[in-house]
Amino acid sequence: MKPPAQREHNHASSVTTAVLPLAGRGTRLLPLTRAVPKELLPVGGRPMVESAVLEAVFSGIQRVVLVLGPGKGALADHFSPELADLRSQAPPHAFDGLDHIWSKVEVISVMQPDSRGLGSAVLAAQPVIGDAPFAVILADDLIDHPQPVLAQMLEVHAGLSPGKGVVAVMNVPRADTARYGVCAGSWQNQQCMRVRKLVEKPNPSTAPSTTAIVGRYVLPGSIFDALAHTRPGVDGEVQLTDALCNLTEADGLLAFRFAGRRFDAGTVAGWQAASTHFAHHDLLQRWTTQLS
Ligand code: G1P
Repeated sequence: MKPPAQREHNHASSVTTAVLPLAGRGTRLLPLTRAVPKELLPVGGRPMVESAVLEAVFSGIQRVVLVLGPGKGALADHFSPELADLRSQAPPHAFDGLDHIWSKVEVISVMQPDSRGLGSAVLAAQPVIGDAPFAVILADDLIDHPQPVLAQMLEVHAGLSPGKGVVAVMNVPRADTARYGVCAGSWQNQQCMRVRKLVEKPNPSTAPSTTAIVGRYVLPGSIFDALAHTRPGVDGEVQLTDALCNLTEADGLLAFRFAGRRFDAGTVAGWQAASTHFAHHDLLQRWTTQLS
């Protein structure tokens, strides 16, 4: 199997690190997640977290930061190099091509000091990121497309001024806006909107649009300062969406309508739909074929 063609699709990108917030308890997937971290549930023959790391690698990312919480240590174990020792006992397909891919990425873990939501999870990565731009991938948002969505976003980001952020968006039914961060602004072309307003989980009757954020972000280092000054919002959690409001006012935020089919594997129905789909569409195979 050929190696991933790093940077093939984002030559000018300065983004080398991706943060995976993984501290959540997966309550929407109970009882499956009583003991098993939701990101270790299989979708299409591999744990969800592995697909997220593969997306990062095939987008040219060189370092992945797992943000863990209590009971989530197995996620770090999954990427432990010691597990390669199992090679002699495992069926050949279990390691096929993957060792080579893992050698291209450094996977490190940090602990989220509290359970105060996505914003707090991203802030926990600041000590290892500093003020460089970085990506965020929510592992339960699985997206199928020949070009990984993060790679699509890094292409767009490479053409922007360094302080700008990019969020992946899709149109959702108005009845569903209360499940998402929702943004409104002016569309510059078919794919990109200059964001002027952001609301986390708005009531459908007051949502400023039906343009919903899905789990891919490219953020400037200035987001950490914004997060540190963001008070708890919806559900008493520090919301990344609320901190992003500061970017719309300062350097600016772009909403990017990505190409691909997205599955919300954070609910039982969504996880089942993703499992059915990815049983026939293996992301590793897809991206290796497309990008090599
Ligand atoms: C998070 C974000 C939300 C975003 C969603 C995408 O919400 O807070 O803005 O639209 O992910 O999946 P969560 O699903 O963690 O409640």
